[in-house]
This record gives sequence, structure tokens and C-alpha cells, in this order.
Amino acid sequence: MSSERAASLSRPLRVAVLASGRGSNLQVLIDRIHGRGKVQIVAVGSDKPQAPALARAEAAGIETHVFATADFGGGRSERDAAIAAWLSGLGVELVVLAGYMQLLGPELLERFSGRVINVHPALLPAFPGLDAVGQALAYGVKVFGVTVHFVDDGVDTGPIILQEAVALPNARTREEVFDALHEIEHRLLPRAVGLIADGAVAPDPEHPRRVLVR
Ligand code: GRF
Repeated sequence: MSSERAASLSRPLRVAVLASGRGSNLQVLIDRIHGRGKVQIVAVGSDKPQAPALARAEAAGIETHVFATADFGGGRSERDAAIAAWLSGLGVELVVLAGYMQLLGPELLERFSGRVINVHPALLPAFPGLDAVGQALAYGVKVFGVTVHFVDDGVDTGPIILQEAVALPNARTREEVFDALHEIEHRLLPRAVGLIADGAVAPDPEHPRRVLVR
């Protein structure tokens, strides 16, 4: 990502966001970094036609598309190939998963290798997958957190770009944890996208799992 990006730093990084739900992370990307010279969000895709994220994108004049798995005969690979073709056609350079509740297969990940990132509401590698906050509460942890990471073919297993922890020793409900985590997510995700746009994120040549952030 970083050397390719270094060659084209003079123009905005073309970013797509995939989201299934509320879209608060999409909204902070729109409000804080979209259209300010460094980053252009050119596409927002969803698996859910009713996702509020789509309305947020439309309000910002960003192209949207719904890719419901059922529309592709239930075939995940056909759906992912269609998403990849759409994003390639729009010249997308970075794909941001912001509350996207589908696993992505090789049809998309190989086309966008090293160029897909995700925000996860836990300190990976603890509590990957669905309901990370519920898993953490059930475990009884005292420290929660957020991870922004590259997406590989596992479930929340890709190399970590940014992480931040918060101590909530008495937390009992998902709501109170999410209140704290959203505030972190809304800082960390725009920071990660901005760093990538700056060409400041690169794999460590000496350690494939380690991501160097300048
Ligand atoms: C966030 O908590 C994110 O960590 C998780 O899904 C949630 C999306 O929230 N992957 P929103 O739709 O951006 O408000």
C-alpha cells in the first residue's frame, strides 16, 4: 500500500466503505476526512437495503449499491465478484469495512489484496467474530478496546494497524461498553484511513504480521 500510494500522494485516495447498519463510523469518515483533499469516498455498499448507512452516503452525494446475498442466488462468491467489479470500475484503492456483517471471500480479497481494512470492537486477537462486546462481558474482562486491522481470509485475523484500550472495570451492559468504544472507533478509523492516504502505513519487511505506522 505505502509504495503505491507514495507515487500518487498528490491526489485523494479513492475509498469505498461497506456497511450493514447504523453507519456512525461511515458518518465520521464523511465528516472528518472525505472531500478534504486527502481522501475521497467514492462508493458505499451494503448487504442491507434498509441500512441507515446508505442514507448517510446518499445525503453526502456518494454513490451507493446494495449487494444482498439473496440477489445472487445465495452465492457469496457471485456477490463478492460483483462487489469487486463495482469497486474496480470506480477506481477504488482502499475498502473500509465499517460494521459490514458479511465475510468477504477471495473474489474480493484477492483483487484488493492488502487494501481492505476493518474496525472491530475488541482488542484482537481476543474476541474475534460476532458480538465481540458480548463475548468480552461474558469473559469478565476489565479492559475493552478497538482494533483497526487489515482484512485477510480469516475472521478478524489480519495484521493490526491501530489499537486502543479503555478500562471499564465495572461494565455490565453492551450499551455502556459501546458508548466508550464508539468514541474510540470514531477517532481511530479516520486516523487509520488518513495514515494510509498519507502512505504512512506499511508492512514490516522483517515480520509479515507487524504493520509499521509512521
Ligand atoms: C462498530 O462497533 C464496529 O466496531 C463493528 O460494527 C459497528 C458498526 O457501527 N464492526 P456503525 O454502523 O458504524 O455505527
